[in-house]
Amino acid sequence: MFQIILSAGIFKRAIDHKLVSVNVHDIRDCTYDKHHTVDDYPYGGGAGMVLKPEPIFEAVEAILPSTPVRDGGNGMPIILLTPQGRLFSQQTALELSKHERLILICGHYEGVDERVREHLVTDEVSIGDYVLSGGELAAMVVAEAVIRLVPGVLGSAASLVDDSHATGLLEYPQYTRPPVYRGWAVPEVLLSGHHTQVARWRREQAIRRTLERRPELLAKASLSSAEREMVDRRQESR
Ligand code: 6GU
Repeated sequence: MFQIILSAGIFKRAIDHKLVSVNVHDIRDCTYDKHHTVDDYPYGGGAGMVLKPEPIFEAVEAILPSTPVRDGGNGMPIILLTPQGRLFSQQTALELSKHERLILICGHYEGVDERVREHLVTDEVSIGDYVLSGGELAAMVVAEAVIRLVPGVLGSAASLVDDSHATGLLEYPQYTRPPVYRGWAVPEVLLSGHHTQVARWRREQAIRRTLERRPELLAKASLSSAEREMVDRRQESR
């Protein structure tokens, strides 16, 4: 699963250019029994299996420059992907992109032994309020959001600034050729070559779209005082 995802798109680009490296480790390699057991029945009973602590601690310790483990000694995030974690956002991605190294641990099945939370990980992250069977896809989501923020990974730095969520607003509508398709015309202002008018139109559209679709985002968006007043007026009249 990881090799397929890592061999395409932005991951491939970043890895090929040696801007990042991504190493996948199988906790089954840190087991000593014939069946490479990584899970066991929950104490106290109940449905489902729980990931055992030993393979997870040992897998993390094996890739750290040195033990004592928690915090990796130097503030390296050791993140457990779990639906119980704090909600992942662009802000979290930005925070994580500042670190030289990250360790992402994929939770699985119905749970992970609590001692992993208490004594190994520095952070727990969820990618949204829905259930996945494992943290693998969540780890890839986090990794891609972080990697695209690493300098040099995207073609130009400029392509980051207008992204949905980068500004705290949703992105404005985009158009490309042809200027009229099936009778549907591109907004006149975009064809005008008038850069200040284009910028003003895009800003208005971004705010309007955010107001319509994700009004709760506007509380944290950075708006001019005129924009803030306009937004407040519209929200009152809803
Ligand atoms: Cl990080 N893991 C799992 N298993 N399910 C999730 C999730 C993570 N984030 C949302 N759902």
